[in-house]
Amino acid sequence: MKLDTSTSFSQVLGIDLPLVQGPFGGGLSTVELAATVAQNGGLGSFGAHSLDGDGISDVVSSIKAQTDRAFALNLWVADHDQGGDDMSVETFDRAWQIYEPYFREFGLEQPEPPKHYHPRFEDQIDALIEARPHAFSFVFGIPSAAILEKCRKSGIITIGAATTPAEVEALDTAGVDAMVASGFEAGGHRPSFIESAEASLMGTAVLVRLAVTKTKKPIIAAGGIADATGIRSALAAGAQAAQLGTAFIACKESGTADIHREVLFSGRTQRTVLTRSYTGRLARGIPNRVIAEFDKRAGELPPFPIHGWFVGKLKAAAMAANIEDFVSLYAGQAAPLLKHRTASALVAAIREEL
Ligand SMILES: Cc1cc2nc3c(=O)[nH]c(=O)nc-3n(C[C@H](O)[C@H](O)[C@H](O)COP(=O)(O)O)c2cc1C
Repeated sequence: MKLDTSTSFSQVLGIDLPLVQGPFGGGLSTVELAATVAQNGGLGSFGAHSLDGDGISDVVSSIKAQTDRAFALNLWVADHDQGGDDMSVETFDRAWQIYEPYFREFGLEQPEPPKHYHPRFEDQIDALIEARPHAFSFVFGIPSAAILEKCRKSGIITIGAATTPAEVEALDTAGVDAMVASGFEAGGHRPSFIESAEASLMGTAVLVRLAVTKTKKPIIAAGGIADATGIRSALAAGAQAAQLGTAFIACKESGTADIHREVLFSGRTQRTVLTRSYTGRLARGIPNRVIAEFDKRAGELPPFPIHGWFVGKLKAAAMAANIEDFVSLYAGQAAPLLKHRTASALVAAIREEL
């Protein structure tokens, strides 16, 4: 049976496949990846949560220079967890004790605390609206009514992310245009915002089926989908599109480190785990040293984004030394299904099989 892939979500955005390339934070998104997916008929996305306003404007202009098709820019609404906004000198020095042995291992000195551990959402959103991407997707909360209204006036489609039916309802009530239903199979962070991520773990199949009973808006299924078979079952459950993440970080157009990409095509993908050891927020990836070292100290770690700021420095040093130890090996449970190493081949295979 050939499915009608021209769903209303795709019609609104003028895309001809029910496919969203998941946005990636932490430098894994690239202009080339978003533009390639857009040019090939899916919705390209760029994860911009670590960029400042100028960075956001530059990315949007660069993608627009490569394609006139639709793409989404993605931000994290809650830019810190409780206690993660700032740190006193004493608390910073206490936290440093946790990281010092690893920094010494790489010959790194104690870093100076930054002005902000993470860019402020409130500083990013004006630049985003001004730059006018076709869609604004977001995680970890709901932007204010004023922001959603500005998006509406600027013709920007808003796409929220939910991990439970209650979050779908909250996004719907706020007037968000479409929702990603993100199941726990997904690679990367759990974007929960009502209860804790640990208390919000639902699989994609059941989440999508419940989500479509809570809203008439388009639901985009995410988590554990890596090919046309997965997309088909998401559409059959009532989703209007599927968002693939892990399958795209495996592609050469992404900013994924080679060391990470090779692991994605190895037998190690059979086991992925949920951990707070990468950034302080719950995320899924393949076990390695960063998880082994920090899971055992979970209760002592500073909150997001401060833990992630320290780990980021270790990751950069590990990558420079070409070792995997502190590289966060983000991956979803569908990673053993990965086949394609370029985004154009992946999208072409999905188009052919659908
Ligand atoms: C490395 C990585 C980084 C991610 N960063 C973001 C992000 O910044 N914003 C976001 O909305 N989703 C992010 N995601 C989630 C993906 O966009 C997508 O929803 C998810 O990967 C789908 O599940 P899958 O990995 O099973 O395909 C990330 C996923 C990965 C693997």
